[in-house]
Amino acid sequence: MTKKKTILSGIQPSGKLHIGNYFGAIRQHIAMQEQGDAFYFIANYHSLTSVREGEILYQNTIDVTLDYLALGLDPEKATFFAQSDVPQVIELAWILGTLTPVSLMEKGVSYKDKIAAGLSPNIGLFTYPVLQAADILIYHSDVVPVGEDQKQNIEICRDLAGKFNRAYEGEYLVIPEEHIVKSVAVVPGTDGRKMSKSYGNTIPIFGEGKPLKKIVMSIQTDSTPLEDPKDPDGDNVFALIKLFASKEQQEDIAAKYRAGGYGYGHAKNELLGFIKEYFSEALEKRKQLEQDLNYVKDVLSDGGKKARERAESVMQPIREATGIVRSF
Ligand code: ADP
Ligand code: TRP
Repeated sequence: MTKKKTILSGIQPSGKLHIGNYFGAIRQHIAMQEQGDAFYFIANYHSLTSVREGEILYQNTIDVTLDYLALGLDPEKATFFAQSDVPQVIELAWILGTLTPVSLMEKGVSYKDKIAAGLSPNIGLFTYPVLQAADILIYHSDVVPVGEDQKQNIEICRDLAGKFNRAYEGEYLVIPEEHIVKSVAVVPGTDGRKMSKSYGNTIPIFGEGKPLKKIVMSIQTDSTPLEDPKDPDGDNVFALIKLFASKEQQEDIAAKYRAGGYGYGHAKNELLGFIKEYFSEALEKRKQLEQDLNYVKDVLSDGGKKARERAESVMQPIREATGIVRSF
């Protein structure tokens, strides 16, 4: 039997998870727990580059865990944990940093974006890709399911693993595959730009009642009058409906758009119905889990223990190779 592949991915606890995160990442993570030895973690050290309130970062960490469990993550199949429960990651990040050319970090997309926006980035953001490389390499990960936007960071990770192995003349680190999960097209937000926490245009996975309705009703559309025929392609509401609807349902709705007499308000109501139905079971499960936070914490603590054991077995030969020993 061939060895099961190690699958690893991380998600930042920097705000409420939205349906862009779900269709772009979480859904694939949950599907892949069946396909290998999956490790998924909450990148809380990474979020320190943007979240400055301890209470909020902690609460977000619990919330992301609740979200994943409610959406189908099975802790018997996948190891789910917080990045900070594996101190070896920070240790490896430092070592990798000593092999990282400053010029490589200067090419980083998020770093360049901040500079272009006139902000002064912190060192944490500057070296973010080094920490991400350590996240991946510390578990000897083979496959890293991430969206297109993470491609550069995976390339940097492969590059750094190669540099380390060459510098210390051994196969200490496994170079992960270039596996960018074929994700759905970028999920648009309520303003038509990419749905993102940083644009304030998100639709939450676990929204309910009036607040959810208000968000869906605020989706921007053009101003074609209700009675006129409309082009479904190019409309934000239809792009979102497509994520949830079956092929037949999509064709049905597209026909209504083209026929006229069907307004964007109708389409939004249809979308609202789809969202509620799609996540209703998960929402119920989430409410139950909220009543059992000890279970949720146990999941994180058991996952952390497993992840630490794996990380330690990868780290020890690296300490020896680099001459960094723990006791003399
Ligand atoms: P945000 O842009 O809201 O801060 P993140 O950068 O934390 O989201 O993304 C977490 C994961 O969700 C990544 O794997 C990313 O590829 C995916 N993702 C985020 N937004 C979208 C979107 N609008 N469409 C598809 N995937 C997305
Ligand atoms: N940078 C990723 C994001 O913003 C999160 C992340 C941190 C990650 N470390 C990782 C993803 C390691 C995959 C592997 O979405």
